Amino acid sequence: MRICRVKSADITEIRRLLIKTWRDTYRLPPDKIRRSNGRGDLLLQAEDPKTVFLCARDKIRITGVITLVRQTADKVLLGRLYVLPSCQRRGIGTKLFQAGLKKIPGVKKIILNAAPENYQGINFYLKKGFKIKGLRWQKCGCFDYRVYLMEKLLEGPPMI
Ligand SMILES: CC(C)(COP(=O)(O)OP(=O)(O)OC[C@H]1O[C@@H](n2cnc3c(N)ncnc32)[C@H](O)[C@@H]1OP(=O)(O)O)[C@@H](O)C(=O)NCCC(=O)NCCS
Repeated sequence: MRICRVKSADITEIRRLLIKTWRDTYRLPPDKIRRSNGRGDLLLQAEDPKTVFLCARDKIRITGVITLVRQTADKVLLGRLYVLPSCQRRGIGTKLFQAGLKKIPGVKKIILNAAPENYQGINFYLKKGFKIKGLRWQKCGCFDYRVYLMEKLLEGPPMI
């Protein structure tokens, strides 16, 4: 498995991965899933210098993605972390998270939003040292939904 920076040429495959993984994770209408993972936004993120957008690849395909968006000098938003359903629980999410952390030196805090019913995502983040800080409404593309606000403090060497 290799972890690489996402390039514009990867966006079509990444969009397919996101749509498939969202369908498996969230009970949302297909139309909302497609609109929340728009090609234009993904392309912008791949080109944005403030965003770390990485993908995991095996010999034939992209198996997972992570997006980290720098918000301030010492704070980063983990915007997305998705692994293809057929490739989950093989350590790919952990490797993407570790690779992402290496790309954000100097960061003291990582924040993220997670759907309360997403047991597997929350379990993963708790295992990585995140804490639940609150529950709030979040706008995602074309709809609003309730999310846990989670955060992880990086003091000294990251605990992963
Ligand atoms: C959450 C996700 C990114 C984790 O990636 P992964 O490659 O499957 O995770 P790893 O194999 O690195 O697992 C690390 C640990 O996370 C936890 N975990 C991962 N998947 C889990 C699941 N389905 N149920 C419970 N715990 C889970 C486990 O503690 C696991 O360690 P273990 O296998 O030694 O018990 C991936 O499962 C995924 O894409 N899920 C759907 C989308 C999602 O929830 N993304 C997060 C958005 S908020």
